[in-house]
Amino acid sequence: MITAETIKINKAPKSRIEEVDFNDLEFGKVISDHMFISDYSDGEWNNVRIEPFGQISFSPTILALHYGQMVFEGMKAFHMQDGNISIFRIEKHYERFMRSLERMCMPPMSYRLFEESITNLIKLDAAWVPKSAGSSLYIRPFVFASEERFGVKISSEYKYIIFSGPVGPYYDKPLRVKVEHQFVRAARGGTGYAKCAGNYGASFYPAHLAKMQGFDQVLWTDGSPDLNIEESGTMNVMFVIDGVLVTPPLSDSILDGVTRDSFLTLAHELGVHTQQRTVSALELEEALKNNILQEAFGTGTAALSTYIQSIDIKGKDYSVPVPGENGVMTRIKNLLMDIRTGKAPDKYNWNTLIKIGQ
Ligand code: COI
Repeated sequence: MITAETIKINKAPKSRIEEVDFNDLEFGKVISDHMFISDYSDGEWNNVRIEPFGQISFSPTILALHYGQMVFEGMKAFHMQDGNISIFRIEKHYERFMRSLERMCMPPMSYRLFEESITNLIKLDAAWVPKSAGSSLYIRPFVFASEERFGVKISSEYKYIIFSGPVGPYYDKPLRVKVEHQFVRAARGGTGYAKCAGNYGASFYPAHLAKMQGFDQVLWTDGSPDLNIEESGTMNVMFVIDGVLVTPPLSDSILDGVTRDSFLTLAHELGVHTQQRTVSALELEEALKNNILQEAFGTGTAALSTYIQSIDIKGKDYSVPVPGENGVMTRIKNLLMDIRTGKAPDKYNWNTLIKIGQ
């Protein structure tokens, strides 16, 4: 059984934290001092350890590099107003991680291993959790196939690794998006609901083309003639239509976003009506023409939430209001941040606390 005592800890001889400018945290660039590693072989996870963050070496033949058995999670830890640290919704991330692993035919792990690996790593790197508003420590757990063999097969060996890094805001301005009608992110029966690396790699080309056309991101659809909206870039997407918060329903082609779920829960608390239902590009266009599309925004762990300022629908560009402080998005986002930082009660038990100085 995994406990804090069974994790072998090899501390970094010297922290790198002094080298970091916490006022200039480009997303994904700065990495904390330590990483967690466990190896899977003979049907179990073993050799659980925390080491100084650094390079790992492996054979060019490992199966992950060729056939893409690789899944990851993205989570965040926050500095609380009482000086402690909260890690947001470990359980919900665990459930999604297990669904992703299952879809990619990779072995599950116990909740105990997931929770202990994260909390012990973050305890050790607690000083890396940024204090300024809008910043957090991004936590990246991932598993990849490490069996050395290039024959097409399900790997029998894996590595589970976690590292973290302090991050600032993901987007610094409202987004210009286009409804993507040539490419899809995910298909029915595919891997869209799993957080597997290939989903992201496959999204780069359409996103790159959209950027060349002057957009920040694409609005993914289900590829049907109706152009039913699914996600936006690497985020779930939400609309406020005539006062109602509308978001596409979960399916096997939509990621079960932890921020999406938290937003829906908090919308109820704030008295905002919600609907999880199909929204087509045609409905969006009608709503834009009738001035009842009041807000559009993406939600995700990395971005938290980001307004969309314009939507291109088959070459026609529509402006979307950006309501600011009194908007539905902003009110929900502020409540969510207050819960994470201890300024509002954690009614839903979303925070795992790391007590500092104990
Ligand atoms: C997240 O929002 O955490 C994501 O996984 C998106 C991206 C950073 C990969």
